[in-house]
Amino acid sequence: MSEPQTKAGDGAARLRGKLITLEGGEGAGKSTQIGHLLGRLGAAGIEAIATREPGGSEGAEILRKILLSGVVKPLGPAAEAILFAAARIDHIDNTIEPALRAGKWVVSDRFSDSTRAYQGGAGEIDPRVLNGLERVALGDLRPDLTLILDLPAEEGLRRAARRRAPGETLDRFEGEDLRFHESLRASFLAIAAADAGRCVVINASAPEAEVADAIWRVASERLIAAPAEQEYGA
Ligand code: TYD
Repeated sequence: MSEPQTKAGDGAARLRGKLITLEGGEGAGKSTQIGHLLGRLGAAGIEAIATREPGGSEGAEILRKILLSGVVKPLGPAAEAILFAAARIDHIDNTIEPALRAGKWVVSDRFSDSTRAYQGGAGEIDPRVLNGLERVALGDLRPDLTLILDLPAEEGLRRAARRRAPGETLDRFEGEDLRFHESLRASFLAIAAADAGRCVVINASAPEAEVADAIWRVASERLIAAPAEQEYGA
């Protein structure tokens, strides 16, 4: 759990922000829900930023283009996982950590569980390799809350196809077959079951407003209604 920290330089004691990550397969509606969550955090007087992976910082956005173009695919899932981790280091150093230290909350569209699910579960990398990569990329950083937006793989792929512009090509992972996306779903559910203290599964098949309410209920119960964590020095 994160410790409250003092923002260096200005002498004012500030609470460290919280890191919330949204995870799930294709077409789960993460970006729409991040919009709702940011609105509700703002209404509760909490300053928050939205970011995404791969990407979220200048260097990581360059790696995003390379990864999603598919040119790394022939090198295998381990090479892809290493590049996702490299992008994550840049994202943490230049976007996530500075915001958390300034007391802002950070809501990230995907984070390290995506590497576990896409490259680990569905891509079948040895979990020891992923543990090592996670240690290198994250250090002691862990999300305060991870929301896993869950829906059947077929439904997610249908939604992703619907939002695609005419003529737009599939990215590296959208182009995988249904079996890949089903194993992806199973991997995310296994991650949630193994780390129930951090992860909550949200039924993403429900109507948008219901999903938004469920997310807000979990976020406010777990992160806002925790007075001992809120009091600086408590
Ligand atoms: P994006 O267009 O952001 O898709 P989505 O709307 O599904 O989040 O593309 C990100 C793709 O990269 C997505 O298919 C998941 C994949 N990915 C990994 O395979 N490993 C990772 O570590 C991350 C962060 C993403």
